[in-house]
Amino acid sequence: MSTTMAEVNRLLRKTAGLINNDNPSPFQGQFRVGVDLGTADIQTIVVDAAGKPLAGYMEWANVVRDGIVVDFFGASQIVREQVRRASEKLGIRIEQVTTSFPPGTDSRISTNVIEAAGLEVAGVIDEPSSVAKLLQLQHAAVVDIGGGTTGTAIIENGEVVRSMDDATGGRHISLVIAGHFGLPYEEAEEMKRASRDQALCGLVAPVIAKMADIVRSHIAGHKVPAIYLTGGSCALPGFLDVFAAEFPGIDVILPEHPLYLTPLAIATYSEAVQAPVHQQRQTQRQAQRQKVG
Ligand SMILES: Nc1ncnc2c1ncn2[C@@H]1O[C@H](COP(=O)(O)OP(=O)(O)OP(=O)(O)O)[C@@H](O)[C@H]1O
Ligand SMILES: [Mg+2]
Repeated sequence: MSTTMAEVNRLLRKTAGLINNDNPSPFQGQFRVGVDLGTADIQTIVVDAAGKPLAGYMEWANVVRDGIVVDFFGASQIVREQVRRASEKLGIRIEQVTTSFPPGTDSRISTNVIEAAGLEVAGVIDEPSSVAKLLQLQHAAVVDIGGGTTGTAIIENGEVVRSMDDATGGRHISLVIAGHFGLPYEEAEEMKRASRDQALCGLVAPVIAKMADIVRSHIAGHKVPAIYLTGGSCALPGFLDVFAAEFPGIDVILPEHPLYLTPLAIATYSEAVQAPVHQQRQTQRQAQRQKVG
């Protein structure tokens, strides 16, 4: 049975509510952890064995550019800190995480960062493929529009038959906004993320058309009945209408909080591991045992 969009939207709302929330929430049982090292941000999401989100951390970070980790130390520090906060919140010890890579890039770029953060790599998957698996798609394309790239995975008979990635993402949208309003890049980026109406969408429609061109070239020669969108750039108000107009005859589906869908899918993809009791609690127990003994 396929995971319905309604169910995934429920998980995404839950994830959005957890982001960067350190409130203690002790957890016992099996869990899995996904780390998404993006060009715009780094996210760590913990889910239970059934895929229900337990903790989530996100930091805007400029440590990956054009498929290369430009600040290796910075990236591993952020991962280490996000994993530490998740461990504290849930009272678990996290030793293994699953990570991802954009299609066509070297997965070692991500796995090296994970290892430098002192963690084991439990698994690695390309980003749009992880989403295809979470949504249990049979015939469709997943399009991931992140900060730096637009990636596509084509799924036929439940298998990813092709995945590709090309430069053009949210960064290019922000550059157009910066140019138009004469703003520094960072201010344009903030203005974009804070926008709640469709006003900016007209201005950046040529960038969205370029993203659609990339996707058209990715899906050329394949019969794609539906496109499932993911990635933070799809959250721009009005994005869906402009993008979907480029694909007459194809259903284009936008989840709620698309910024969290790829990292949620990476976490869900990994094998569940039993939560070892947190170091601190183990120490307390040992102390108790010694007292009793
Ligand atoms: N509400 C919003 N409206 C418009 N854009 C947004 C919004 N929220 C986030 N973004 C954009 O989404 C992008 C980040 O998305 P995401 O986390 O999917 O990218 P990434 O994984 O870091 O990048 P990539 O996949 O290209 O390596 C940024 O460019 C950011 O500006
Ligand atoms: Mg991404």
